[in-house]
Amino acid sequence: MDKLKNKVAVITGGSSGIGLATAKEFIANGAKVVIFGRNKQSLDEITKELGSMCYGIQGDVTNISDLEKLYTDTKSKFGGIDIVFVNVGQGKLAPIAETSETFFDEMINVNLKGAYFSLQKAIAHLNPNASIIITTSWLNEIGFGGSSLLSASKAALRSVVRVANAELASQGIRVNAVSPGPIGTPFWGKIGLSDDVLQGAAEAITNQTALKRFGQPEEVAKAVLFLASNDSSYITGHEIAVDGGINQV
Ligand SMILES: NC(=O)c1ccc[n+]([C@@H]2O[C@H](COP(=O)([O-])OP(=O)(O)OC[C@H]3O[C@@H](n4cnc5c(N)ncnc54)[C@H](OP(=O)(O)O)[C@@H]3O)[C@@H](O)[C@H]2O)c1
Repeated sequence: MDKLKNKVAVITGGSSGIGLATAKEFIANGAKVVIFGRNKQSLDEITKELGSMCYGIQGDVTNISDLEKLYTDTKSKFGGIDIVFVNVGQGKLAPIAETSETFFDEMINVNLKGAYFSLQKAIAHLNPNASIIITTSWLNEIGFGGSSLLSASKAALRSVVRVANAELASQGIRVNAVSPGPIGTPFWGKIGLSDDVLQGAAEAITNQTALKRFGQPEEVAKAVLFLASNDSSYITGHEIAVDGGINQV
């Protein structure tokens, strides 16, 4: 359990769901981990629980100066950065015909612009042979009604992974994506569906998976650990699906 010994990792959206499970997995493997999110109370509770290997920095991915502060503060606290898990994303849904400009801007600001600058602002602070992992989604490959901005933002991030890989590989920096399928996290309670509609959607989605269940955030965290560690030293520019075989059967 020391795959990340002496490594420094930053996890955006590290206070909940997939990011939090990954923070725990990284710390169990010897890393010092900075978690980033907006809610200070959550960050304080988690850093208290996880101890001195975990440090919380409050901020919003849509605010560039918060992102700059994230990386400069991480460097001051722990030193140069070896792993960045660009993981914040929100999943609100709306049909294309009913999408307002405000909603468009909100989704693209958080999911695409926020992730893009979470990556960009990290680059100057990375140690040689760093690993960057970006969270995409199973929705970037299918036409799921209501998900146009979620799906499009995640498809754009899949492209950004390829380009970042082309630009950073000469420095030994690897860039990959992890693509979760349906994972049981607080994410689903924030997408704006009533309990009844959500229940029906969850059943339909479950039936589309080969394993006939939602995944657990810890199952995604294991794949992120693999991409963060030297175990994946010859893997870059790729997207690894952790999705219970959704739409494969
Ligand atoms: N769960 C799924 O089924 C699923 C499937 C496919 C892809 N994904 C992707 O996986 C990633 C993580 O999702 P999750 O399920 O773990 O969600 P989650 O439990 O809702 O966690 C989201 C995290 O992001 C933080 N966050 C949200 N907006 C932020 C902002 N503007 N600035 C800074 N932090 C922000 C939240 O903290 P605060 O609210 O305190 O800021 C929280 O820590 C997302 O990119 C999502 O699109 C999830």
